[in-house]
Amino acid sequence: MQVTETPLFLTNLWYMAGLAHSLKRGAMRREMLCGEPVLLGRTTNGDVFALRDICPHRAAPLSAGRFKGNDVECPYHGWRFTTEGRCSHIPSVLQDQAFETNRIRVRKYPAREQDGLIWVYFAADANELPAIEPPVLPIAAHDGRALPRFVESQIFPCELDHAVVGLMDPAHGPFVHRAWWWRNEKSIHAKAKQHTPSLRGFTMVGHPPSSNSFAYKILGGNLVTEIRFELPGLRYEHITAGKREVLGFTAVTPKDSDTTLVTQVFYWTAPWLGAVKPFFRPFARAFLGQDRRIVELQNEGLKFSPPQMLIQDADVPAIWYHRLKKAWSESVETGKPFVNPVQERMLRWRS
Ligand code: FES
Ligand SMILES: [Fe+2]
Repeated sequence: MQVTETPLFLTNLWYMAGLAHSLKRGAMRREMLCGEPVLLGRTTNGDVFALRDICPHRAAPLSAGRFKGNDVECPYHGWRFTTEGRCSHIPSVLQDQAFETNRIRVRKYPAREQDGLIWVYFAADANELPAIEPPVLPIAAHDGRALPRFVESQIFPCELDHAVVGLMDPAHGPFVHRAWWWRNEKSIHAKAKQHTPSLRGFTMVGHPPSSNSFAYKILGGNLVTEIRFELPGLRYEHITAGKREVLGFTAVTPKDSDTTLVTQVFYWTAPWLGAVKPFFRPFARAFLGQDRRIVELQNEGLKFSPPQMLIQDADVPAIWYHRLKKAWSESVETGKPFVNPVQERMLRWRS
């Protein structure tokens, strides 16, 4: 099967825009998200908000301005905007000059803080309210306040789809991640994993993790791993060992058409795992670095716009990803309900 064309960025979805702790009270910064400049800010009250980072007056980035109370002041002519995106003050206007300041607006993006992550909603229509809630992390006793215990993020110099497909690809492990502590060619064996459709994506049904993964072994026995993918580019690897849980959450966030941020966040309930953190860091960095390195190499080929292939069964997750994107964008366009195109199926491959 050839790779089909789908729109690069999907709308009417929440995107993981950054880590909550990276945005202090009274701070704001510019972030590219889905090719749009976004001001990401936190008021002195602690509320997170997001505005289009282009002043409606003459386009200066609002993020280069400052807070005036909880309003944002543009660095160019001092126009002020509320966190709702409404213009609240224009310094150059005299009191006796009738001017409907509050009719001027800058686009506001719904923003939400949950589980130590900042989510920003990209609506197809700027005035539309979110039709869905930000993703709920599949960890026990979920109350939206799970604590990220370990984070590794890297910028991939590629478009969103290659980053997503690269991360869900089951066949690259023994080659891209060849290492004594993970996989190698000799560890390749046949696998068969049941997959089912799930919320805006699909799930590799809970199974004991590969016995050839050294890194899994440190968690102890009775392991069950469930891996779930969800649009726009979210992957949940949920490992349970009795009552203990580890969630490896990966968010693939498109910055622009050829820059993608990949963030891996780990949550866990086993307190002793904190002790292995310093040991874990170089591995996590190396691991994600291997995925980044391969997309850099892949770019060398993609420059020439060659056709690409998706084969059975190893590339079926990638095929599903493209179908999911297509189905989602069609549902946004037509207003018809989204129908998950994934069918329950056993996938078999060697890796
Ligand atoms: S450009 Fe923002 S106030 Fe003029
Ligand atoms: Fe990988």
